[in-house]
Amino acid sequence: MKDLQRLYSDRAGKMRKSEIRELLKVTQDPEIISFAGGLPNPKSFPLDDIENVVHKVLNEKGADALQYGTTQGLFSLREMIVERVAKDGITADPDEVIITSGSQQALDTIGKIFLNPGDVGICGLPTYLGGINAFRSYEANLEGIPLDQNGMMIDVLEEKIKELLADDIIPKFIYVVPTFQNPAGVVMPESRRKQLIDLACNYDLVIVEDDPYGKLRYDMSPIKPIKAFDDEGHVIYMSTFSKILSPGFRLAWTIASPELTRKMIICKQALDLCTNTFTQYIADEFIRNGSLDLHIMKICELYEPKRDCMMEAMHSYFPEGYKCNKPQGGMFAWVTLPEGIDTEIMFLEGLKQKVAYVHGKAFHVDGGGGRSMRLNFSYSSTEQIQEGMKRLGTVIETKLKALC
Ligand SMILES: Cc1ncc(COP(=O)(O)O)c(C=O)c1O
Repeated sequence: MKDLQRLYSDRAGKMRKSEIRELLKVTQDPEIISFAGGLPNPKSFPLDDIENVVHKVLNEKGADALQYGTTQGLFSLREMIVERVAKDGITADPDEVIITSGSQQALDTIGKIFLNPGDVGICGLPTYLGGINAFRSYEANLEGIPLDQNGMMIDVLEEKIKELLADDIIPKFIYVVPTFQNPAGVVMPESRRKQLIDLACNYDLVIVEDDPYGKLRYDMSPIKPIKAFDDEGHVIYMSTFSKILSPGFRLAWTIASPELTRKMIICKQALDLCTNTFTQYIADEFIRNGSLDLHIMKICELYEPKRDCMMEAMHSYFPEGYKCNKPQGGMFAWVTLPEGIDTEIMFLEGLKQKVAYVHGKAFHVDGGGGRSMRLNFSYSSTEQIQEGMKRLGTVIETKLKALC
């Protein structure tokens, strides 16, 4: 074709490749110790258990498991999810659950059903990059609300809502990752979750609660999702099997009011007809035979020492002046470096020393976060964590000396 540009939709014409993904391609070099990705540790994949389950599914339900399924997802898996979330305080009916092709599809669906070009969505500063990309692909204007150690700052959020409403702008939703936030690692306490629900009720707004990490807890007691306090159907809750079983399954779920669920199903029909039926049957069986809870315990046992190793190595190798709170769960440590350092520029120096991370600006819709970086601790071995943190410490130290 000579000229595809003239054929593209306005939307596709405006789509740009993600700079971050381009940068991260470089980290495929096996000599680089990468703290950049959000990958589970491959050692956590329960290969033998899955093999047994696959045989059982093929023997007992093969014809159904290899067939198309309903758009909403396998009923018995939705039933299992309802049973599991009830333990977290969420009351739901299987009819209010959709099995999606990853939470990423749920984020895209939310963009599709709520956002016209120029519409406003609210998110955290920082927030999950994949959320930013999904909403921006619908040409949303994202307004960022700063986080403190307890997550999104509710007083600032309320001011922003008032300001927008005064200009006749209705924010379409508030996107939050309240538990072991990606990238900041912080947890919103229950009192703030209730404040957020009150706000959504007072201003009649939708909250999108994204919860992939809630079960990866190392030294914190369980905390109820925001959805558990939602009596009026303001919250679209989503979680995923990606971090507790396998991202390759591409299985996640949403829980929302019947009306929103209907809308999302219609939208999903056009996206993929149905989520992978085979992996739905496998996940269903894996939960039913009791393997999932045991497996989550094993993942936590694998990740907690890695988290500790990263925190200790940071203490040993990073020059003074950095800030990082020990994450109590999840997969990420969020580090802020002294004034004068730009982590985006420093990334290239890190690569020369064969170490990689994601720079903070990637997670900020307001161009901020220039002194911060996200470090993943789940993927690398403890030896790699120690060596990688040593290399990163040297890079930071050199940078700081150059500033003097
Ligand atoms: C906050 C958040 N939401 C959504 C996702 C996407 O998850 P999935 O693999 O289910 O698409 C991720 C993945 O890292 C995430 O961190």
